[in-house]
Amino acid sequence: MSAVFSSPAVAAQILAVIVSVVVYRRYIHPLSEIPGPFWASITRLWQICYLLKGEEALEVVALHDKHGHFVRIAPNEVSVSHPDGPRLLLLAPLRKGNWYTLFALPDWRFQNPMSTLDPKEKVERSKWLSSGYSLSNILKSEEYIDKNIAHLQDWMDKYAADHKPMHLDKFLSYTVFDNTGEALFSEPFGFISEGRDVGGALRNNEILNPVVAAFGFLTVFQWIFANPVVTWLGVLPMGHLFDTTTRAMKKRQKNPDARFDIAAHWFRMQQKNPDRLSLRQVEAQATLSVGGGADTISCGIQSFVYHMMRRPELWERARHEIDAVNKDGICQGTPVSFSEAQNMPFLQACVKEALRILGPTPSGLPRVAPKGGLSIGDRHFPEGTVLSIHGHVMQLSKEHWGPDAREFNPNRWFADDIGTKEKFWLVFGVGYNSCPGQHLARVQITKMAATIVRDYDILQVDPCSEWKWKAYISIVPHSWPVYVQKRTLRYKQ
Ligand code: HEM
Repeated sequence: MSAVFSSPAVAAQILAVIVSVVVYRRYIHPLSEIPGPFWASITRLWQICYLLKGEEALEVVALHDKHGHFVRIAPNEVSVSHPDGPRLLLLAPLRKGNWYTLFALPDWRFQNPMSTLDPKEKVERSKWLSSGYSLSNILKSEEYIDKNIAHLQDWMDKYAADHKPMHLDKFLSYTVFDNTGEALFSEPFGFISEGRDVGGALRNNEILNPVVAAFGFLTVFQWIFANPVVTWLGVLPMGHLFDTTTRAMKKRQKNPDARFDIAAHWFRMQQKNPDRLSLRQVEAQATLSVGGGADTISCGIQSFVYHMMRRPELWERARHEIDAVNKDGICQGTPVSFSEAQNMPFLQACVKEALRILGPTPSGLPRVAPKGGLSIGDRHFPEGTVLSIHGHVMQLSKEHWGPDAREFNPNRWFADDIGTKEKFWLVFGVGYNSCPGQHLARVQITKMAATIVRDYDILQVDPCSEWKWKAYISIVPHSWPVYVQKRTLRYKQ
C-alpha cells in the first residue's frame, strides 16, 4: 500500500492536481483580475494565518489602501470598501457566507439566528428572540447595571486612595460581564464585586477569541472540535462558555426574584411557540449573547477612556458639557442615568468616535452574490462569490471619512456632511443581521463614559506607551495601566 503512495507516478499526479488548482485559481478563476496577495488568491490559509495572528483586519485595511475598492482575500472571497458596499451587501437580504456557521456554539445542535445562513430563515428565528433586547426592556435593568457601575467606582476610589496603578481594562471587563448577567439572567456573575475573573471565564474568552475567528473557515475542525461528544466532555473553551451560560440559566429558572429580563422574554416565547423556538435555541442565543456581548462592550468603553485620557482637552470639554447642565439638576445621579447621558451631544460624539476608531468586532461580514451575480460600481461578481465588508475597512477609510480618518476626532460628528458619512459607521452591522444587543451596549457605554468623565481624572502610568490589542473575533485591549484620581469637586446629590 505504502509503495503505491510513494510511487513517483502518484506523486506526479498529486503535484499536477495542485499545480492545476493553483494556476486555475490565480490566472483563470473569474476573480483572478481582482488585486490582492498571491497566497490569498490560491488558498484560504492566507486569511486563516492572519486571523490566528489577530492581524487580519488591519492587513485588509492596508490592502485596500494599496488596491482600492476590491481586494481578493481568499480564492472565492473579495473584501469590498466601495461606497455602495453596505447598501448592496448588508442592507440587502443576501445569504450569509459559510463562515457564520461557527456561531452554532458549542456545537452544530445549537443553531441560532447568527449561525443561520438563509436570510428568511434567520429573520424568522430572530423574531422570537428580539423583544428581549428592546431598549425599553434593557432599561428595566438599569438600576441593577447601576449597582455594578457603583462597584466599579468603589474599586476606582480604592486605587485612587492608594495611589496605585490600576488595570482599568480588567475592571471595565468585569463590570460589563456582570451587566450582561443582569440584563440576561437578573444576576451578575460576581466579577466586579470580587474584582477578579471568577471561574476564569474572561481568560476562557481570551483563549476562545482567536480560535473562533478562524473556526468558521475550518469545516473539518468544526466537525472534530464542535460536536456533541466534545460538548459533553466540556474540555474546550466553547464548552466552558456554554457551561457558564447554562449554569446561569438554570440558576435563573430557580430564582424567585428574577425580573422580566431578556431570558424571561425568551422563555415566554418558547412556552407559547414550542414548535418554533426550542429550549436549545434559547440556550444557544444565551451562549452567544454572553460570549459576544461583554468583550465587545469592554472594548467600546476602553476605547473611550483610552482615547479621551490621551486628549485632556476633549476630556475637559465632555466634562464641561456635563457640568453645564448640572445646575439644572441633570446628570447628578451616581452613576449618570442613560436618559440624561444620551442627551449630551459632545459626549455622544466621543462615544461614537471611540467605537469608530476601534470597532470591537473586526471580522469581515461575508455575503454571497445571488443568482445572476452582483454588480458593485463597475465590477460584476458571479453568483456564489463571497463578498465581505470589514467594519474596520469602512470606518478607517480616508475616502469615506477624510484624511484624518485614522485620528480620534469627535468633532467630525458635528460636520455638515456627517449624514453622508454615517452610513460607513458599521459598528453594530446594518440590515437583517445587525446586532440585537446594541441597546444594551449603548446604555452601558454611555452611562460609564459620562460617570467616569464626570467623577475622575485618569492618567496613563506611562503616557508614551500604547495599549495592546489583537483583532480576533472581538478586540479586547489591554496593557494600559493608569493612575486614577477622584475629582475633588463633587456634585450636590
Ligand atoms: C459594543 C458592543 C457590540 C458590538 C460592537 C457588536 C457588534 C455586532 C456585530 C457587528 C454583529 C454582526 C453583524 C453581522 O453579522 O452582520 C453582531 C451580532 C450580534 N450581536 Fe452584537 N455587538 C455588541 C454587543 C452585543 C451585546 C451586548 C449582545 C447581547 C447581549 C450582542 C449580541 C449579538 C448577537 C446575538 C448577534 C447575532 C445577530 C443575531 O442573532 O441576529 N452584541 N454584533
